[in-house]
Amino acid sequence: MANLYIIISDLAIQFIIINILVGGNAAETFNIQTYGAVGDGVNDDSEAFTNAWNAACNVSSATLLVPDGKTYLVNNLVFEGPCAAGFIFQVDGNINAPADPNSWKDKTIWLQFDKLKQFTLQGSGTIDGQGSNWWSRGDGGDVPLAIQFNGGNQVTIQGLSIVKSPSFHLTFTSSKSIQILSVKINAPGTSIHTDGIDINGQSTDFRIINCKIGTGDDCVSIGNGSSNIYIEDLTCGPGHGISVGSLGKGNTQAQVSNVHVNGATLTATTNGLRIKTWQGGSGSANGIIFEKVTMDNVANPIIIDQYYCDSPTPCSNQSSAVKISNVTYNGISGTSSTPVAVRFACSTTVGCTDITLSDISLRLKSGGPAQSYCLNAQGQTSEPVDPPSCLSS
Ligand SMILES: *[C@@H]1O[C@H](CO)[C@@H](O)[C@H](O)[C@H]1NC(C)=O
Ligand SMILES: *[C@@H]1O[C@H](CO)[C@@H](O)[C@H](O)[C@H]1NC(C)=O
Ligand SMILES: *[C@@H]1O[C@H](CO)[C@@H](O)[C@H](O)[C@H]1NC(C)=O
Ligand SMILES: *[C@@H]1O[C@H](CO)[C@@H](O)[C@H](O)[C@H]1NC(C)=O
Repeated sequence: MANLYIIISDLAIQFIIINILVGGNAAETFNIQTYGAVGDGVNDDSEAFTNAWNAACNVSSATLLVPDGKTYLVNNLVFEGPCAAGFIFQVDGNINAPADPNSWKDKTIWLQFDKLKQFTLQGSGTIDGQGSNWWSRGDGGDVPLAIQFNGGNQVTIQGLSIVKSPSFHLTFTSSKSIQILSVKINAPGTSIHTDGIDINGQSTDFRIINCKIGTGDDCVSIGNGSSNIYIEDLTCGPGHGISVGSLGKGNTQAQVSNVHVNGATLTATTNGLRIKTWQGGSGSANGIIFEKVTMDNVANPIIIDQYYCDSPTPCSNQSSAVKISNVTYNGISGTSSTPVAVRFACSTTVGCTDITLSDISLRLKSGGPAQSYCLNAQGQTSEPVDPPSCLSS
């Protein structure tokens, strides 16, 4: 037995030596503690983060580590890319924003990730925007968003919790090939403008899988210029539901295409599956599929609103609108907190076309049947559809 043991351990040592000689997988970890971070939640660790980022970013196969068990206070930071392909930002500890809005250096974005390519942000930690002092200031002035990826390409965000952002939590502009996997986002249902995931500005090819989002605004908001957005197994609530738009504000041109929500559970949200456009816009939103969605006590479970207006003064009706077409709702069931569970309020001049309702079962939470409302909405149904469809054929 003793001989056998020696042979095995010899082999193991040879294997290790060979591995070192060929230089395989010599992944290097850059721990922010080594760069002077204190992690007591009081000391400002911003500089340590910047220094560690600069040291690690262009080292092949590097990991930048925020270790478990500590809380790091950081002010506004810009994480500038590109870095070496495969760079990993591993957040296992907690990262907090300053609690006092007056001590923020910049009031637009807390953590900005710029032009990163083949990059992963992951871990078991919590990124906390300390938003409560911003929410209580009311709706005036600039309120920063927590995390923004600008110009990201092949980015994966995985496992983290992102909580209490002053405004939007996780946002993207001009980004492509993005995966958001098992991320949790949380803020109180009463917090204003706290969208969970916000996609904007010519962003494309997103996979948002197994995320749990509860905030005071949209769980996922798909803005102008977005295309190829796939969402699977989303848990949403509280919040304003899943939203395409708003589009066409201020007579602008909009373009959204190929959005697929495949599996979601919405609980007590103020909208379910919503497409919202302003009067006077132009362009189109099309190729949108919502399927396998369960609703519990949701207001406006299915809604297209081409009269969207959140300005303080009423919006007048106009003849142009963003054209909505080819939208499918398949396998949508559960309960509505409002009498009208299916609402298609389309432009009287442009109209919605090619709307499909199939396998719909939405009843009132209080019991009894719900209703449908249609204005200038055309499409087809495949039974069962309850409440009965009012689409024109
Ligand atoms: C990493 O390398 C890229 C490409 O050469 C460069 O643009 C970037 O500034 C470098 N970043 C850092 C932090 O050194
Ligand atoms: C909306 O997106 C389209 C297509 O990407 C772009 O042409 C248009 O300028 C954008 N509109 C606004 C208001 O940004
Ligand atoms: C409707 O949208 C779906 C999903 O994006 C797409 O596969 C299909 O080709 C579109 N149909 C038409 C007629 O554009
Ligand atoms: C705009 O048109 C819609 C649909 O016809 C109508 O319900 C609404 O009252 C109109 N709004 C205004 C401000 O005229």
